[in-house]
Amino acid sequence: MSGSEIAFPHELIDLLRAACRVTVLTGAGISAESGIPTFRDAMTGLWARFRPEDLATPQAFERDPRLVWEWYSWRRGLVGKAKPNAAHLAVARLECLVREVVVVTQNVDGLHHRAGSSRVIELHGNIMRSRCSREGTVAATWEKPEEGPPQCERCGAYLRPDVVWFGEPLPQAALQEAYDTLSASDLVLSVGTSNVVEPAASMPWAAAAAGVPVAVVNLTMSGQRAGPGIFHLEGRAGAVLPGLLAAAWPEAAP
Ligand code: APR
Repeated sequence: MSGSEIAFPHELIDLLRAACRVTVLTGAGISAESGIPTFRDAMTGLWARFRPEDLATPQAFERDPRLVWEWYSWRRGLVGKAKPNAAHLAVARLECLVREVVVVTQNVDGLHHRAGSSRVIELHGNIMRSRCSREGTVAATWEKPEEGPPQCERCGAYLRPDVVWFGEPLPQAALQEAYDTLSASDLVLSVGTSNVVEPAASMPWAAAAAGVPVAVVNLTMSGQRAGPGIFHLEGRAGAVLPGLLAAAWPEAAP
């Protein structure tokens, strides 16, 4: 279904047009149409026998740093080849139509930045950066060793992906900034997330409970809450988001 075939609720259109600040919460589903598998998709190829929960942990890295590093190298390769899709581009274009747009993403692929979004809060870090597993110093580039993780130039410890692993705390500053923007928003768009992993999972519902309208964009509404102030927009983010902008600002259609 293309975005122009979706009937957007008039109330939502009015809210979007009148909004001074919109927060866009995104998960892996917004990058699915860029060819990056979501976490709940079955992993492909040689990684099919692993689950993200078994690799994206400090314990897994401690146990087998080479395996975990190679999984992230595989994912980094996918991200490097990926391009922002129509959904990322619509979120970036929203900045020309609404005074303040803040993206709060669980994704580590950096595609919102590449699409042109200027205010992006990365709750779970960024896979294109690494950091010293001992000192925490961040590295944007590193010497690629024959195999296994590179080592920190200063202390010799392994570098690890600069992402939040299961069981690790989120960066406090990013988390606080996310809560602040959500509570100051006139509308929240929750796009392509299964709402499984806390604390991001509860963010849209906490906003709705505080009286901030929430529009959920997802292929399926199973696992998504319903209720007053919550709009369900079922479909591909790459179709729904451009369609929503066209419906709200027909005069500004690209
Ligand atoms: N358009 C819209 N939604 C989509 C699309 C699409 N084209 N494709 C998939 N989806 C939806 C799925 O229906 C699902 O609800 O995106 C969601 C993806 O869910 P997950 O794979 O669980 O990804 P996410 O919600 O981001 O996971 C949260 O879990 O594994 C951890 O840290 C990891 O950040 C990740 C977190």
